[in-house]
Amino acid sequence: MAEHTTRERIAAVETLRAEAANAGSPRAVERQHARGKLLARERIELLLDPGSFTELDAFVQHRNPNFNMMENRPYGDGVVTGHGTIEDRRVFVFSQDFTVFGGSLGEAFAEKIVKVMDMALRYRCPIIGINDSGGARIQEGVVSLAGYADIFVRNVQASGVIPQISLIVGPCAGGAVYSPAITDFVMMAEGTAHMFITGPEVVKTVTGEEVSFEELGGATAHATRSGVAHFTAPDEKALFGDCRYLLSFLPQSSADPPPWEPPSDPADRMDPELDTLIPDEPTKPYDMHEVIRRVVDDGEFMEVQERFADNIVCGFARLGGYPIGVVANQPRALAGVLDIGSSVKGARFVRTCDAFGLPVVTFVDVPGFLPGTDQEWGGIIRHGAKLLYAYCEASVPKLAVITRKAYGGAYDVMSSKHVGADFNFAWPTAEVAVMGPDGAVNIVFRKELEAAGDPDARRAELVEEYRERFANPFTAAERGYVDDVIAPSRTRPALITALEASRHKSVERPRRKHGNIPL
Ligand code: HXC
Repeated sequence: MAEHTTRERIAAVETLRAEAANAGSPRAVERQHARGKLLARERIELLLDPGSFTELDAFVQHRNPNFNMMENRPYGDGVVTGHGTIEDRRVFVFSQDFTVFGGSLGEAFAEKIVKVMDMALRYRCPIIGINDSGGARIQEGVVSLAGYADIFVRNVQASGVIPQISLIVGPCAGGAVYSPAITDFVMMAEGTAHMFITGPEVVKTVTGEEVSFEELGGATAHATRSGVAHFTAPDEKALFGDCRYLLSFLPQSSADPPPWEPPSDPADRMDPELDTLIPDEPTKPYDMHEVIRRVVDDGEFMEVQERFADNIVCGFARLGGYPIGVVANQPRALAGVLDIGSSVKGARFVRTCDAFGLPVVTFVDVPGFLPGTDQEWGGIIRHGAKLLYAYCEASVPKLAVITRKAYGGAYDVMSSKHVGADFNFAWPTAEVAVMGPDGAVNIVFRKELEAAGDPDARRAELVEEYRERFANPFTAAERGYVDDVIAPSRTRPALITALEASRHKSVERPRRKHGNIPL
């Protein structure tokens, strides 16, 4: 072996490193950029604090002997892995490089991802995956399938321990979708991200349907129809910005507190506009976003699954500087009713907050569960049970404000005192009852109404009587089911005081392997 000086050896390493950083062919790089897509390293640079990235395993090469693959062994094997910081907090990342073997996953590629996942879990840091891949590397066969399974297992082990975020910025197809699907958040870039189990060609062969990539698995499809995407952004740069913002609400791990930030919005700020926000007419809608924004710090609210099941609103905000999860019925969409979509969305969100120690603040205006064969046959019983289960199970501080309707089973579900909520407030406009006045009167006074000379006049009287007796917050307040009836304008100070009081909540749970949430 030829003799080399130390200086020459150091220079050789840098040459190899440069080779690793430029593993994709110029044609592939040009193609990537021409599609409005960034390169794997460019993405990491935009995601992390400038200059904070430390790469690992840049010299890894595959060892697949099939199909003359040994003649082409690019350094890094098509995925860039390592760690860096976001707002000075350590995160681990992997970024799939579509310019090398189409970002396809083989044995060495999977080993690199597995390594950073293991490190993230061991060091209790979030893991962020940037996905842009043709899926299992065809030339490696079952070995690449094994690699996926190694990743899935780690996704599950890390679930509820460290935040896991998936950024989809290219194709993500076949079984490859299941790693992102297990993570806490899926964020998709509009126009370039596509997720599906089988692509349009296979769909056409199997079902005869003709559908484009975008219609089948684009960001909009998953944000509005499937609910797979928690967030979408118009381009990659915006997506990385959103990911950084999302992390500002999440702790490093379930063992760490969520990041408190000194608030600039006064804790005692009242909002008189809230006193006139609820319409006098009980069936008239209003926008629950307005309530949320007027209550939380600086009106800042990061909504999750904004365009999916919009009859429930979920998202992150701060109260007195503490990150919170907000869940709210939305009277503007389907009157805020609970249906299959909203139950599943709310349940997942409550569990995410509970896993990462974020108090859940619930704004309640719910007329009940949605009736009908669609819902019953679709399984509203088992899906609705998910939301109930999630609230019952959550051991973080749970605060609730009933703004208007809290009817029937949905009253119980939506963070009632009975499912373990800590502080429950009602506005004077609250109606806590088994059902709305009209339905109740028709059932209870059916015989009397049939016998009445003027049934309509009698019905109006009875509705008024019922409203006086039940459709108000005081029947609940007289039993302590709500802790206080407050002027809407005082909601923010009341919630912040409640949060301070319940911040160190500690709940004993029975010993068990794990609960059995109805899935
Ligand atoms: C090996 C692959 C590859 C793959 C793409 N490439 N996918 N190599 N294994 N899975 C290579 C291509 O040969 C090409 O190499 C380069 O990547 C770019 O691919 P193109 O086809 O030119 O790019 P584009 O036109 O943008 O199309 C992208 C694509 C298409 C839609 C992703 O490549 C595609 O359909 N690929 C196969 C997708 C697939 O069926 N994967 C298996 C899914 S099943 P050159 O050298 O020409 O540049 C799966 C199972 C996971 O993943 C199971 C987990 C349990």
